[in-house]
Amino acid sequence: MGSAGKKEGKKQKQEKLGPAWLDNAIFYEIYPQSFRDSNGDGIGDFHGIMEKLDYIKELGCNAIWMNPCFESPFGDAGYDVSNYYKAAPRYGTNEDLKRLFDEVHKREMHILLDLVPGHTSVNHEWFRQSLRPEQNEYTDRYIWTDSIWKEPAGYGSLRGISDRNGSCMVNFFSHQPALNYGFYKPDPEEPWQQAMDAPGPRSTLLEMMNVMRFWLGLGCDGFRVDMAGQLVKGDVDGKGNIALWQEVREFLDREFPEAAMVSEWGEPDKSLQGGFHMDFLLHFGPSHYNDLFRCEKPFFAGEGDVSKFVEKYLDSYQKAGGKGLICIPSGNHDMARLAKYVKGDRLKLAFAFLLTMPGAPFIYYGDEIGMPYVEKLFSVEGGYDRTGARSPMLWDRTPNAGFSSAPKEELYIPQPELADVSTAADQMEDRDSLRSEIQRLISIRQAHKALQSRGEIEFVHAREGVYPLAYLRFSGEERYLVVINPSDREEAFTGKFLLGDAVYTFGGRVKQQRGKVHVDPCTAGIYEIQPWVVV
Ligand code: NOJ
Repeated sequence: MGSAGKKEGKKQKQEKLGPAWLDNAIFYEIYPQSFRDSNGDGIGDFHGIMEKLDYIKELGCNAIWMNPCFESPFGDAGYDVSNYYKAAPRYGTNEDLKRLFDEVHKREMHILLDLVPGHTSVNHEWFRQSLRPEQNEYTDRYIWTDSIWKEPAGYGSLRGISDRNGSCMVNFFSHQPALNYGFYKPDPEEPWQQAMDAPGPRSTLLEMMNVMRFWLGLGCDGFRVDMAGQLVKGDVDGKGNIALWQEVREFLDREFPEAAMVSEWGEPDKSLQGGFHMDFLLHFGPSHYNDLFRCEKPFFAGEGDVSKFVEKYLDSYQKAGGKGLICIPSGNHDMARLAKYVKGDRLKLAFAFLLTMPGAPFIYYGDEIGMPYVEKLFSVEGGYDRTGARSPMLWDRTPNAGFSSAPKEELYIPQPELADVSTAADQMEDRDSLRSEIQRLISIRQAHKALQSRGEIEFVHAREGVYPLAYLRFSGEERYLVVINPSDREEAFTGKFLLGDAVYTFGGRVKQQRGKVHVDPCTAGIYEIQPWVVV
């Protein structure tokens, strides 16, 4: 094959894998309400985010996922959209958002918006039209039963709120009516259940593609997709949802091949088949993610078990077959902060893991400084117990920790007392801080392809109830051993390789003696394997 042919082959392979920028992407999740308030109204905004892009870049992240920023009554923090084509005025205008895209791109970074295709707010004009008893364009935009006395089995519903004779299925909170993408196998006894290819479900999907087209056209780089595996109903094996997203992926490959898609699905074997480039491991579902960071005895707190997580991870990894990336977040806006369970130097070990695993890492804003989960808050915007993980960023020691110039009582969510916590500014000055450690880890990851998104992994030591965790990462000729011991004892394992130079160390020593690798308490390291021989 000539070099042009080879190039073509490489291009095609890359197209199948998705945009090349994901190969070394490291994401930072921004909850816009709480990041930076530039106009003193107590809530974050687009200009505030623009002010802090250099901070994110300096940390080493080169991509952003921003939580929903569209017009909404904010009954669920914006996951209740009332207009998909309009930025929420409290954050700025569509022009401001476009400027944010441009500022991100100027810094050679990328930004994903949060797409909520499964449901809208009850305030959405589509829903208002759909409530009307007479047939109209939006009658089948949502999932309605054919009688007010019939509820959709297994789902909540909105009933008796208009003269339309039916109950409308809801997806999450009862103010979030479910958009209609059809049923995988409609029940012939329930004629209100529509097939995926019926006109109502088709027009919903085409409209959602228009929404994507609109924002990609303005310059966003893709989407994090809310509840992505739950659009088609009655779809036990996920086949309907996989087919739906394959169609979306075809549209994106045709019109926006550089756009990246990450799903809130939590089952990579399905989501990646559906054409998503990335899927999250989530704090619910089958992943055992919580065993690592959020349970009574998390592995990274020093007395837990990593084996079930690794078993499930490997199963998904193999089933995914390199089609896309499995992404492990440090946290997100739906779960308690990482620092609630994992403390002190062990947070550094948790990040040593997060930043040396395959897939694109996602850092939840504030986790890089170990921001605390704020206990006992009243719920804000449907946050309930998630509210404590959504408090405004702690930038520095000026009033409201540099988040806002509003009076303290007008802040979107209360912040923790500054006396008890450290701020981003404190940590930027301290070479031993969590943030500085994360910066180091990121620069090491970015210097070694084997440690990046598509480098392969093989677990060397991940046994039940036993420390340390050890795995190999490799790509081409590059091979590294990552070893992490969050326990407070020296631990050892047998390794069939010779340890070479360290590219990263934290904590105590890692030494190899008579075929055994001994790891000090609370220690992590990344080592070259030299030479690659069985000892
Ligand atoms: C998942 C989102 O992350 C969460 O915040 C939201 O409440 C639900 N989906 C409903 O959209």
